[in-house]
Amino acid sequence: RKRVVRISTGSKQFDSILGGGFQSMSISEVFGEFRCGKTQLSHTISVIAQLPVELGGANGKVAYIDTEGTFRPERIAQIAERYGVDPEATQENIAYARALNSEHQLELLNTLSREFSGGAFRLLVIDSIMNCFRVDYCGRGELADRQQKLNQFLMKLAHMAEEFNVCVLMVSIILSSFLFGMLYSYLTLLAQTNQVQSDPGASSLFAGADGRKPVGGHVLAHASTTRVLLRKGRGEERVAKIQDSPDCPEREAIYIITNGGIND
Ligand code: GTP
Ligand code: MG
Repeated sequence: RKRVVRISTGSKQFDSILGGGFQSMSISEVFGEFRCGKTQLSHTISVIAQLPVELGGANGKVAYIDTEGTFRPERIAQIAERYGVDPEATQENIAYARALNSEHQLELLNTLSREFSGGAFRLLVIDSIMNCFRVDYCGRGELADRQQKLNQFLMKLAHMAEEFNVCVLMVSIILSSFLFGMLYSYLTLLAQTNQVQSDPGASSLFAGADGRKPVGGHVLAHASTTRVLLRKGRGEERVAKIQDSPDCPEREAIYIITNGGIND
């Protein structure tokens, strides 16, 4: 049986409000205004995921989908040094992909599924999830299309998290959070209705939303979603706040961004 692992953020306070870190077999979302540390967290967790479990890691490889061109291998090296691990080996354990557009972003998941089937990956980072979709579907009339493609993407993510025991960390910006709010209520509803396997209404709703046959109800039910709002605090401080998590209370933690990544 697959066991859920928790990956540390680099900050003990931040970890504690998450109950130890971001979970595998689950999708987590961090969102917030610019420069609050979403990309720095993405870098930090990409290093920590490779560490042994005793050190807050998951002893696994990492996949990183970058839609904004803000991934910096040099930062990975600096963070690796903080943890006393080899910078080059750490960089090599990160499968990096620059998503060029939303179609490509979707396709990348298929490529990654094949990679993940080897069982070595424990973390998938997407920084940020909406960027390509925003550009590709900018017209008002295209909102429904965008929603459908986004749904498809999220379904696939949920499936991968569950199937390969991977922690999915996705970054979104605050502007799109209302849209995600809608999507998540929708997904939560689907997860709940899909648990009742005999409900024909749920299946047809699911099939309609995804444009394909409904997948097993266990997938979304297990891929619970944790959302964390990041914001600037006093001075160099940043604040993380849990939002509507299924298993964590809504608490806040203060963290800072250092050369070695996210820290207390
Ligand atoms: P957007 O992508 O613009 O929405 O922002 P973000 O939330 O991804 O912010 P990001 O993670 O890029 O954090 C930016 C902050 O990290 C800035 O305040 C930088 O000063 C800080 N930062 C970036 N690199 C370093 C570094 O090498 N050392 C330190 N100490 N801070 C850094
Ligand atoms: Mg960023």
